[in-house]
Amino acid sequence: MVTEAPPGRGLFITLEGGEGAGKSTLGKALAGELVDRGYEVVLTREPGGVAAAEAIRDLLLSEQPWRWSPLTEVLLFSAARSEHLEQLIRPALRDGKIVICDRFADSTRAYQQAGGADASAIDALETLVVSADMPDLTLLLDLPPEARHARLVQRGVARDAFETRSDDFHERARAAFLAIAEANPDRVIVMNASNSPEQLLKESMEAISARLAVRAS
Ligand code: TMP
Repeated sequence: MVTEAPPGRGLFITLEGGEGAGKSTLGKALAGELVDRGYEVVLTREPGGVAAAEAIRDLLLSEQPWRWSPLTEVLLFSAARSEHLEQLIRPALRDGKIVICDRFADSTRAYQQAGGADASAIDALETLVVSADMPDLTLLLDLPPEARHARLVQRGVARDAFETRSDDFHERARAAFLAIAEANPDRVIVMNASNSPEQLLKESMEAISARLAVRAS
């Protein structure tokens, strides 16, 4: 069964997965393809997407002399998400646009839970902040640990405070993403991030076209 959005609403697509999985490359390729097909597209990211949320991103991702508590991380990512939804995502969806967001609520569930946050706190904040605006489609780029390592070495120095966390942490986050996919088979499609960018674009476009067809019928 395909997730149905209210009539007139655009399509909300999120890209999820570990670092180095190729989300940004896929996001740009998808946006280009959909614009070529005549759709209005907003390509955005979390944490961030609007100035207020980018300010919270700077706080969260810079190396600090302290480590935020898991609950504080949930609160900060959720605060950034609330600004992003209110200022950019909801208005774009109301205007019938396709929103492609690089990371969203599943990242909080995967990463902050991997960091020790309580599932009930994550549930409560997700209900409060996201409410009915969960994505229509989530493309999960899954990358096994060896491949993740190889890509991060290729990329060079760690880019933020999360990349430097332990392998265990990243393995817990990966397992949590896969558990989210299993619990939400109508929304989440798991893709093998080791496949070529062309293959990933093709698979993603098939899933998106199916949802757009339902919307148009
Ligand atoms: P990025 O590398 O995709 O730009 O994401 C930045 C980092 O933020 C990444 O390591 C994952 C982390 N993150 C969370 O821990 N929780 C969240 O809710 C989001 C959106 C990102």
